[in-house]
Amino acid sequence: MTLITSLRGFKDILPDETVAWRQVETRARLIFARFGLREIRVPILEKTELFSRGIGDATDIVEKEMYTFTDRGGDSLTMRPEATASVIRSYLEHGMYQSESVSKLYTMGPMFRRERPQKGRYRQFHQINVEFLGSEDPRLDGELLFMLVFFLEDLGLPDLRLEINSLGCPACRPAFKERVREFLDSSKGRLCEDCRRRLDNNPLRVFDCKNEGCRILIDGAPAILDSLCGECEDHFTRLRGYLKALGVDYVINGMMVRGLDYYRRTAFEVTTTSLGSQNAVAGGGRYDGLTEQLGGPDIPGIGFAIGMERLISLIPDSNLGLNESPLLYIATLGEDALDFSYLLSISLKKEGITTEIDFSDRGLKSQMKRSNRLGCRFTLIIGENEMTLKKAELRDMKEGTQRSLSLENPAELALELSRLAATADNDPGNNNIRNNN
Ligand code: HAM
Repeated sequence: MTLITSLRGFKDILPDETVAWRQVETRARLIFARFGLREIRVPILEKTELFSRGIGDATDIVEKEMYTFTDRGGDSLTMRPEATASVIRSYLEHGMYQSESVSKLYTMGPMFRRERPQKGRYRQFHQINVEFLGSEDPRLDGELLFMLVFFLEDLGLPDLRLEINSLGCPACRPAFKERVREFLDSSKGRLCEDCRRRLDNNPLRVFDCKNEGCRILIDGAPAILDSLCGECEDHFTRLRGYLKALGVDYVINGMMVRGLDYYRRTAFEVTTTSLGSQNAVAGGGRYDGLTEQLGGPDIPGIGFAIGMERLISLIPDSNLGLNESPLLYIATLGEDALDFSYLLSISLKKEGITTEIDFSDRGLKSQMKRSNRLGCRFTLIIGENEMTLKKAELRDMKEGTQRSLSLENPAELALELSRLAATADNDPGNNNIRNNN
């Protein structure tokens, strides 16, 4: 029978990789807690209407990338292509705004977009997603951006570039759209089919088109920053002031519009030259008005999402303590010693010691080799003699030293091993019992 393989654009995250994933997630949780964020977990499946209303009908995501199907009850459902709409739905549905003036929420998990798969672009990918809801104060934008850059720098990401823009608001954007429409009108025939259609209902989308021909045509188009109303202008100026005061480096990119329609005012992306064409590791912005569009009261908000796959690919190995090797390997000689060691290994695991043992009846030499390959710090060798004497030699695989340990009491043995590991842990080259803080 043929082997069943995974879907195109859907990737397994294998045990060797999950170590890095968990460390990044742990790091995120620690930093987010410092900034007062709380975790929210929302469903993967939502009513299609949530995304078509939230993200916008004229976006690539809603037009052609969503995994949408009719369920057996006849409802149109969609695998979430992003988390913002879902988080806001939940925030409104549970009336969170009634109990706190500002809600700072984060969520992590898989998103689904039927894009053309390539390196750094998948059909199931993962995001770390953050939303700050309840205030339009540019200080909040500043704090969110500071936290994002701080987190990415803390992970050691090279060549980061924060690009910011203001997309205006319903007071100033319509006039800008009109100017863009006028600018492109004469060259309408040379735009791609999608952009020709978009020119009528959402000309800003043309800025986001990847088609080289459209990119050339948009060159020299009016800049949104020249069309901002007084309030948007003031908001953007103040945000830049806060970023400067917080020491966050940025560049202004007046052409950035983002691929989702809910943004107002602040929009941003973090890019790095190391990612090639899929160069955004994170993106986000302000979405004042979205809560109303989703049927709730008018509550401003701002957020971002980081692409996990891209993020992980950028972190230098040296910045991840990738070693999750067992602390102890028990090498055994003979069937009885294996039985004895098997029970001992389970007792040690119960006491908190990661312990590895081999059932395959190999020779001592190959067991020692396996211990080395697994990166175990210590190896305990147990044969007939050790069973009778309840004493065995513990070999420090790194130092090459040996010491005799009592096997009488597993809890005491576990304590002794932890003590030795803690001493060894002061050595930065060592694994095990790693302090993640
Ligand atoms: P987005 O720019 O669509 O924003 O996605 C954010 C990040 O997710 C991207 O910068 C990228 O790193 C990653 N990403 C997106 N699509 C893929 C893909 N197909 N494969 C791999 N990685 C991908 C949003 O999703 C907004 N919801 C962000 C936001 C939160 N805005 C306000 N709050």
